[in-house]
This record gives sequence, structure tokens and C-alpha cells, in this order.
Amino acid sequence: MLDTIVSIGDTLKEIRETKGFHLQEVADKTSINYTSLSRIETGKRLPTKPQVQSLAQFYSYSENDLIRQLISDKIIYEVQNEDLGLEGFHLAEQKLKYGLNLFNDYKNQDKFQLQSRRYIGNKAKLTDWIMEIIESETEGNGTFIDIFSGTSIVAKSAMEKYKTVILNDILYSNNVTYQAFYGTLKWNSNKLVELANEYNTLNSKSIRENYFSKNFGGKFYEKEVSKQIGYIRQDIEKKKKNNDLNSREYAILLTSLIYTIDKLANTVGHFDAYIKKPITKRPLNFKLIQTSDFKGAKIYQEDANELVRNIKGDIAYIDPPYNSRQYSRFYHIYENLIQWKKPKLYGVALKPEPENMSKYCTVQAKDTFKDLVENLDVKYLAVSYNNTYKSKSKSSKNKITLEEITEILNNVGETKTFEQSHTYFNTGKTDFNDHKEFLFLTKKYDK
Ligand SMILES: C[S@@+](CC[C@H](N)C(=O)[O-])C[C@H]1O[C@@H](n2cnc3c(N)ncnc32)[C@H](O)[C@@H]1O
Repeated sequence: MLDTIVSIGDTLKEIRETKGFHLQEVADKTSINYTSLSRIETGKRLPTKPQVQSLAQFYSYSENDLIRQLISDKIIYEVQNEDLGLEGFHLAEQKLKYGLNLFNDYKNQDKFQLQSRRYIGNKAKLTDWIMEIIESETEGNGTFIDIFSGTSIVAKSAMEKYKTVILNDILYSNNVTYQAFYGTLKWNSNKLVELANEYNTLNSKSIRENYFSKNFGGKFYEKEVSKQIGYIRQDIEKKKKNNDLNSREYAILLTSLIYTIDKLANTVGHFDAYIKKPITKRPLNFKLIQTSDFKGAKIYQEDANELVRNIKGDIAYIDPPYNSRQYSRFYHIYENLIQWKKPKLYGVALKPEPENMSKYCTVQAKDTFKDLVENLDVKYLAVSYNNTYKSKSKSSKNKITLEEITEILNNVGETKTFEQSHTYFNTGKTDFNDHKEFLFLTKKYDK
């Protein structure tokens, strides 16, 4: 009996020493880093379930025995310093006996929030400022148009006030996230929670090489994780084809996959290049996204200049790219993963043939912007702009200058300018000193 009264840390240490492994060797061969392993063995922290599974596999030790140890230690951590700890524990035993199932449903799961994703030029830190200006300078709560939605963080904030919010972006991978967060089709949360659990218990060693791992493994993602990603993507496609998923469930799973793997990418936040250093092994922790209850979203995937000819609203928020860096190239891996046509890839960054290239990133930017604001059928325009055109890096130089954008907006309506200093993503070539974020608020002239 006493043999079993040891912590999971002690057990893991004993197994390792008996097998004659050094901590570093275990770290190298599993997805757990040296410091975490050491903290686990010395009882400073508990391992996660995927870590226990990978250690059980590595040591060829009974996974069930280790998981039992883990669960019991978790309970002890919770109750040991509570006066009523033991009584709470007995009550929990009773509840379990009568089938109370607390944490297996979507509501009680840990989920990804909209903003927990990296995206170049996202306005997460500026949304409150933008919405406050819109609130004080405009009237009406009918339709808000976010014509270059990106992550949709601004659109989401607009949903608190406007009855209808139009979302649009040319990227497939952004469109799928809008379908997932704001779609109105009913979806089965229990089914997706179960699938998420299944994806978290995948054993990468028994997964075959696939399109994703062959192309991106060891480069943008750690080899074993890349096999899991390819497997999960293929499984989602298979389930969709077999009608095991409706279109909303499909979008939620794909979006959850994007959010899950964003945390594991060996990059600085986009896929123009990967970091040329050995990739730290981290377990894939598939989590679902937190969907929204908003019922008034209208979702498009069109070129902004074409779409504006077919929609109207009270206000349009305009946040296009302003330099030569194409979003479809920055996020080619997500575009590839979402379309899943498995195209041939080129170059060091393994990009497919160009698609969805934006005129806003070319010399046509100024005329394209002018065409957009002239054709938008709205009362107000709110335009984001930052002055990176002073940047020394050619690719970060703005295609439309501050003077040009001011003139274009003055020509279509009465324009006010608001500004704020703002630190942002860069690769060290830009002078931050007078970097500013602008918001133009234009009340359009009647036609
Ligand atoms: C600066 S980002 C928008 C960021 C967004 N406001 C946010 O907070 O996440 C610009 C977006 O415009 C999209 N885009 C570029 N050209 C476009 C076009 N011609 N039509 C529609 N979307 C376009 C890009 O894919 C990108 O997501």
C-alpha cells in the first residue's frame, strides 16, 4: 500500500533513474523541455495529461498507472490547504457517483477567445480608442461595415452597438473564422468537445507522414506536431465529406485548428519565413473557440472594391494593408490548410502559386483607395492609417502617403483626424520615435 503513496513527480524520477536516463535525454526525446521536466520531478508543478502520455510512451510504462497518479495529485493540490478539503472531496465522490458531469461540456471548457491569435496589423490594442471616436462622432446603430476585417476584432466590438455588422476579407482563412464565430447555424457542442478530446490524445508516433508534415515539418512546425496537424486536417475533411459535420461545425473545427497551431508556429507571427533554429517540442493542445451569440453578421469573401458596389450601411471602417506585404503570402500556410487542395509549393518558405493578391499593396493603391471611398454607400467613413511610410525598409514603406489619404478623404466629405502613438510589429529597421496611428473620421457629402 505504502508503495503507492508517492507523488507523480517522485514516480517519474524513479522510473527515469531506474531506466538510466539523464533529464536532458528525456527532454530531447519527448515534447517536454528540460526545465519543465525538472520542475515536475521535484514536485514544483504537475505535468499535463499529454505530457504524462508522452512520458509513459517514452519509458514504456503503464499510461493508466501514471494518469491515476496525476489525477490523485491534482485532487490533493486542490484540497490539501482547505479546512473543508476532505469533506469537499467526499462530496465530489458522491456527485460523481450520481453522474454529475462538470467539465466535459463546451460551457466549462477552456476556449480560445477571438483575440488570442497573432495577426499582423490587428487592431486589438486600438479597438476601444477607435470605437470611442466612432461613438462620439457619428449617429445611427443600423449597419456597420468592416470591409477589411482581418481578425474581426473591430467588427466584434461593433456588434455591441449595431444591429447588422458586415464582415469581409479576401482570405479564405479569415472567412472561415467569421463563419465559425458569427455563423447562425446550430451546431453540436458535445460532438466537437469529444472530437477535441480525441485530437488531444493522438499519438504522433503512430501517425504517418502527410502533406502537411512533409512540407512544413521541421521548418514551420516541429516534426511530430506537423504530423498531428496534417492528420487532424484530413480527419476534419473526411468527417465533412461523410456528412458527420455541418458547415458551422466544420468552420469551428478549422478555426480552432488555426488558433491551436498559431501557438506552435516557429515564426515571428507570419509565414514569410521560419526561424532557423531547432524547434522546441510543445504538445498540441487542441482547444475549441468561443463562439459569439450575435445574430446580425453578414459575411463576405470578396475584393473590397467589388463588394462596396453591392452593399450599404451607416458607417464603414476601413483598414487596408498600406505596404507591399501581401496578407495572402504572409498567411499562406493557413490559406493552404483551409482550402486543403494540397498544391505544389515553392521556395524556402514553401508558398503556393500567388492568389488573392491585393491592389492595396501595389502602385495602384492610391487609385484603388479613392475608388473604394467614392463608391461606399454610407454616411460615415472611419479610416485607420499609420505612418510607417517613413520606414527605412522598402517593403514597409506606405503605398499611400498621409497627405494623399487626407486629400482623398477631404474630397469625399468633412474629415477629422485623430492620432495616437503606437508601438507595433517590426523587424528592427523602423524608427519608432514618431510612429503614429491615425483615425480619420469622414462625414460623407451627399451625392
Ligand atoms: C490591416 S489588415 C486588417 C486588420 C483588422 N482591422 C484587424 O484588426 O484584425 C488588412 C486586411 O485586409 C485584407 N485585404 C487586403 N486586400 C483586400 C481586398 N482588396 N479586399 C478585401 N480584403 C483585403 C487582408 O487580407 C487583411 O486581413
